[in-house]
Amino acid sequence: MSGPLILAIESSCDETGIALVEGGRRIHSNVVASQVALHAPTGGIVPEVAARAHLRWIVPVLDEAWAAAGVGWNDIDAIGVTYGPGLAGSLLVGINFAKALAYVRRKPLVAVNHLEGHLYAAWLLDPAEAERPEPVFPLVALVVSGGHTFLVEMRDHLTYRLLGQTVDDAAGEAFDKVGRLLGLGYPGGPAVMAAAAGATRRDAVFPRAWLGDSYDFSFSGLKTAARRIIARARADEGIADDPGARLPDGTTAELAHGFQASVVDVLATKTIRAAEAVGARAIVLGGGVAANRVLRERIEAEAASRGVPVVIPRPGLCTDNGAMIGAAAARRFAAGERAGYELDARPSLPLAMPA
Ligand code: KG4
Ligand code: ZN
Repeated sequence: MSGPLILAIESSCDETGIALVEGGRRIHSNVVASQVALHAPTGGIVPEVAARAHLRWIVPVLDEAWAAAGVGWNDIDAIGVTYGPGLAGSLLVGINFAKALAYVRRKPLVAVNHLEGHLYAAWLLDPAEAERPEPVFPLVALVVSGGHTFLVEMRDHLTYRLLGQTVDDAAGEAFDKVGRLLGLGYPGGPAVMAAAAGATRRDAVFPRAWLGDSYDFSFSGLKTAARRIIARARADEGIADDPGARLPDGTTAELAHGFQASVVDVLATKTIRAAEAVGARAIVLGGGVAANRVLRERIEAEAASRGVPVVIPRPGLCTDNGAMIGAAAARRFAAGERAGYELDARPSLPLAMPA
């Protein structure tokens, strides 16, 4: 393996992630401090609480990343850091830390778009993982996270043609809201998936927003429908319309299953259709919702029947982490990109302009 060794820092949302990644591909170490337990009592992220947790944990996470990697400062070619999109206060902690390290150690600084990180997670290899071919262009990539849902075409590295995106909520946001409505806690995605897996009745049908032939997505209507369906189920059970009043487990499972089936159906159908339309030679998935087993299996099965290879990072590399930032940083570094010490957070940074 060759290519630059990057120290990568991710702090855009609620995970403090630091990784050492070689050649945009091989992970030497990848440490993530999750704030899930911290945000569970409020049922969501309080930005200032998230920023303070990054401040608290960023040095221990770096220490642990060094300890696991077996490399030192002299081996590092550059420092990559997420500069957007994300929560301003959270981003500032990582950016400021990266700047200080770059300055003291005289290392180049590379600014990374978090969304590009989710895409480049598909290139990563775990420390002991066997070599495998890289994703082949042209490819279609679906990024589905707590804040973003979009489909892009990539014909080469670092270039994106936006095919479609959500016109309202992100897919992960819908999972989180429905998880909350069902009283399953935070974050909703993994909890809804676990509940749905136990469904024995699969009769609940949730609407799908197809938006004609477009590759855009909409999940706010689904969220409203879910609220109505869950309220009706509570009324049928004669219990209060309050997430604290839990439905019987069988009903919760059935509703979680119906909701998840709707989201997966739309995401998978549009991704496969886009791949066919652009003649994709690979399909790539990224972002926290790509950790969803049903979505992964559905896209893998449909792509396999069409002979298109699918690359989906393991779940821990779909959710936010430093390694994905290291993978993207290596490409930006190789392209000659360097950030100056004036680097600032860009909370609304887009991946690419519509073509
Ligand atoms: O990529 P990510 O870690 O952070 C953002 O950049 O937003 O994604 C977090 C989102 C949350 O909405 C979470 O509920 C969702 O990903 N998620 C899942 C699963 N695991 C995480 N959604 C569905 N199924 C899952 N297994
Ligand atoms: Zn993310």
